[in-house]
Amino acid sequence: MIVLKSEREIQAMHESGKLLASCHKALSKLIVPGATTWEIEEFVEDYLKKHGAKPEQKGYKGYEYATCASINEEICHGFPRKSALKSGDIVTIDMVVNYNGALSDSAWTYSVGKVTKETERLLHVTKEALYKGIEQSVAGNRIGDIGHAIQTYAEGEGFSVVRDFIGHGIGASIHESPEVPHYGLPNKGARLKEGMVFTIEPMINAGTYKAVRHANGWTASTADNKYSAQYEHTIAITKNGPLILTDQD
Ligand code: MF3
Ligand code: CO
Repeated sequence: MIVLKSEREIQAMHESGKLLASCHKALSKLIVPGATTWEIEEFVEDYLKKHGAKPEQKGYKGYEYATCASINEEICHGFPRKSALKSGDIVTIDMVVNYNGALSDSAWTYSVGKVTKETERLLHVTKEALYKGIEQSVAGNRIGDIGHAIQTYAEGEGFSVVRDFIGHGIGASIHESPEVPHYGLPNKGARLKEGMVFTIEPMINAGTYKAVRHANGWTASTADNKYSAQYEHTIAITKNGPLILTDQD
């Protein structure tokens, strides 16, 4: 069942999303060669606390951290760690903010120091892919239209779309209905309605779409160890079209 949100609920989630966006903007300045994702983790915990919010991921299904920090070939759910980032790395920071009980979820991939032209292209295409999905998020369209737009674009650029992790409804808890794959067929799946709130979070790989799981039970990496990038927004379907609740502008 897809729970529709009232305007008031969407507004509360928007406030949560604005705080999340400001946290991303603040932490982006810390991502330099020599920094660690453990420092980012501590920064985020502190930032949210200072602003009266909570890191919803911490304790969720046994996950122990406020952030996921996925480096280079890691697709998602990497653990924050104390090893130093180096120039040429990319790192995806993902978090869920709980502000006055309202949740928002956004991931962003950052480059560390100087990355290759091809890595820059991977990041650019992944971000564009997210916005192609958002463009399709209008009432009357179907879930499949989102994934189709993302997949067509990303594969057209020579990259691949991760299948094992998908976008999701969000509300009372991090994951609710509907499922939002970043691949698929147009005009298939649930019809989009005003009041739906979900994430779109394409994970786009330089090589194979296939993922392998780490022994820690959480982290996934690309099967060929090539880089993977991700951009994620929480969006609401409104009568005026898609509203990006975690917009950084
Ligand atoms: N933020 C993640 C998402 O985009 C959820 C992370 S699951 C957690 O779906 F357990 F790590 F919190
Ligand atoms: Co997320």
